[in-house]
Amino acid sequence: MNLPLKGERFMRAVRIHQYGGPEVLSNEEMPIPEPKASEARVKIEAIGLNYIDIYQRTGLYQLPLPFTLGREAAGTVDAVGPGATDLKIGDRVAYAMEPGAYAEYAIVPAWKLVPVPDKIDSRSAAATMLQGMTAHYLAHSTYQLKRGETALVHAAAGGVGLLLIQIAKMLGARVIGTVSTETKAQLAKQAGADDVILYSQSDFLAEVKKLTDSKGVHVVYDSVGATTFDKSLNCLRPRGCLALFGQSSGPVPPFDLGKLATMGSLFVTRPTLVHYMSDRSELLARANVLFNWIAAGQLKLRIDKSFPLAEAAEAHRLLEGRKTTGKVVLVP
Ligand SMILES: NC(=O)c1ccc[n+]([C@@H]2O[C@H](COP(=O)([O-])OP(=O)(O)OC[C@H]3O[C@@H](n4cnc5c(N)ncnc54)[C@H](OP(=O)(O)O)[C@@H]3O)[C@@H](O)[C@H]2O)c1
Repeated sequence: MNLPLKGERFMRAVRIHQYGGPEVLSNEEMPIPEPKASEARVKIEAIGLNYIDIYQRTGLYQLPLPFTLGREAAGTVDAVGPGATDLKIGDRVAYAMEPGAYAEYAIVPAWKLVPVPDKIDSRSAAATMLQGMTAHYLAHSTYQLKRGETALVHAAAGGVGLLLIQIAKMLGARVIGTVSTETKAQLAKQAGADDVILYSQSDFLAEVKKLTDSKGVHVVYDSVGATTFDKSLNCLRPRGCLALFGQSSGPVPPFDLGKLATMGSLFVTRPTLVHYMSDRSELLARANVLFNWIAAGQLKLRIDKSFPLAEAAEAHRLLEGRKTTGKVVLVP
């Protein structure tokens, strides 16, 4: 327990001191941090839960311990460091891919803070940034989907999945989704998926072959990893692209690249959001498109559940237990 320095104010945060299951999440008090040059302090109103939080908790992605979990939030600017001239106290902002969001306040580089339009509430803003920008870059930049092409989207009723289906449909693609339950299948259909396969019950490779007259799909967006990777490759038509953007079922083992030639001169990429919001103009371009679509009702967010921050462990159990659909938000 830190002893307060004179005048120091404290905040609640969820931290981990060791990697492990949801039980390692620890509700703590810590000093409210001060912004340095080109940084701002955000008073957080809503925190986005993401699968990366699970990888960081388990140690699949390692950060130096101890640390405050969380990579996405929305709120208001509460203090501004020297040089962060474009921001003022009270500005409504959101951000992604910066550590320390499971807290009442977070320090964020000023360039990563995106203005939130009046029409978008804080929960929606927190639900948009990480999964929304991921769905956007996958469909526009990793593999630019074209009208008439077919995409296979795994975990189609998840946070990224529901947004990716809608964006792929806006681009004129045909979407085949995979999900584990009937309820999730309904949600994927409502989001616009043309066909949905229950990959928990049937062989998704055989189903994709049937649905495409054995031609295969142009692109597979695969965030499931270990249990889907091999069959995902087999779902592709010659010169198709596998975008492996996650591993909710576990990491993909080492792979012989020579197989890509015999399987049809295939492409495999392992993209991650940080490289697709590489500077302020790219970040603003993606986030603003998403906020405009949401404000216009063209892109629907599904906020499945909201938990008090102190119950983050329960939210983790549900996300890794495949019990959530769309977005889960934590409220400090
Ligand atoms: N590379 C990037 O830039 C980037 C950015 C954001 C997210 N991601 C990745 O995208 C994926 C989705 O993230 P999300 O936050 O939107 O989560 P999510 O899709 O809402 O939840 C994960 C889903 O994965 C499916 N799944 C399949 N096998 C699973 C298993 N063994 N254990 C747990 N889940 C399993 C489940 O759907 P079913 O029950 O329908 O199978 C589950 O609901 C994650 O892999 C994440 O790492 C990557």
